[in-house]
Amino acid sequence: MEDAAREGVYGAPPLELATVGRGAIQLSPLVPGARALESLDEAALDRITLAAPAGTVERRYTLAMALAVLAPGGRLVALAPKDKGGARIRADLEAFGCQVQETAKRHHRICATTRPARIEGLGAAVAAGALQRPPGLGLWSRPGVFSWDRVDPGSALLASALPALKGEGADLGCGIGYLALKVLQSPAVRALALIDVDRRAVQAALLNVEDDRASCLWADLRKAQGVPTGLDFIVMNPPFHDGGAEDRALGQAFIRQAAQMLRKGGRCWLVANRRLPYEAVLAEAFTSATPRADAGGYKVFEAVR
Ligand SMILES: C[S@@+](CC[C@H](N)C(=O)[O-])C[C@H]1O[C@@H](n2cnc3c(N)ncnc32)[C@H](O)[C@@H]1O
Repeated sequence: MEDAAREGVYGAPPLELATVGRGAIQLSPLVPGARALESLDEAALDRITLAAPAGTVERRYTLAMALAVLAPGGRLVALAPKDKGGARIRADLEAFGCQVQETAKRHHRICATTRPARIEGLGAAVAAGALQRPPGLGLWSRPGVFSWDRVDPGSALLASALPALKGEGADLGCGIGYLALKVLQSPAVRALALIDVDRRAVQAALLNVEDDRASCLWADLRKAQGVPTGLDFIVMNPPFHDGGAEDRALGQAFIRQAAQMLRKGGRCWLVANRRLPYEAVLAEAFTSATPRADAGGYKVFEAVR
């Protein structure tokens, strides 16, 4: 690439499968600080390498947006594991009117194409993947964010078990703000920081949680920069997937992070899938951890720092 600023990368394509220029602009909503595809002008880039999302609507939206910001004749390389959407990339691109060269390597499908003069079905793909209010949810959301069109049963169990909280707190991995809305029903809550690594979730939460006590932060909680400390309480439904693969260490990192953000005596309310091994890390990071609810395959703990 002669001008690295005209190259984009979406996510973290495996380096052995795709070449990404050193100065490529990161475009993934899961990388705090990255540029949003939506913020780029038409024809802003000459090349994009895209680790394609597994979800169908999210993947088509992302491919369509990537094509739309390429200059005429600009090159798109999109890849994913075959069983995580990779097998569908070629058909997705062909439906947009692209000519595609597909190769297979290391269980991935790698599709290379150039931007067609006219992107067929662009508007429909973008509308399907954009911010919207799914019927029955009553909240802003969009494909790609966690449990985007229904309340997660674990979060619902935690919401039903929460007492009226008070003081200053945080919602770690806030998603679209479902738990935050429950927490803010308590008038004794003075401030609540909603934190998530997914820009799309934070944007939806900003729309859903119209409350002066709430603030939103787009951040990776494993990196702990700029997060509030000395808190009275934390609520969370910790993630246990990273990039589509199960990652129990991520939930355990959330638990350690929660302990660091709380004052002595502060309380962490969390819900987890019953089979996840969080008891040991709770015992290590907190003074006590008491089971408060157990239903539908989920367990709720109240842990005291
Ligand atoms: C199980 S979901 C819970 C979402 C929301 N609290 C709810 O109850 O619906 C976990 C959330 O953690 C976020 N997340 C995952 N990894 C993260 C990280 N490293 N830092 C911050 N948030 C993260 C995900 O984007 C997701 O929204």
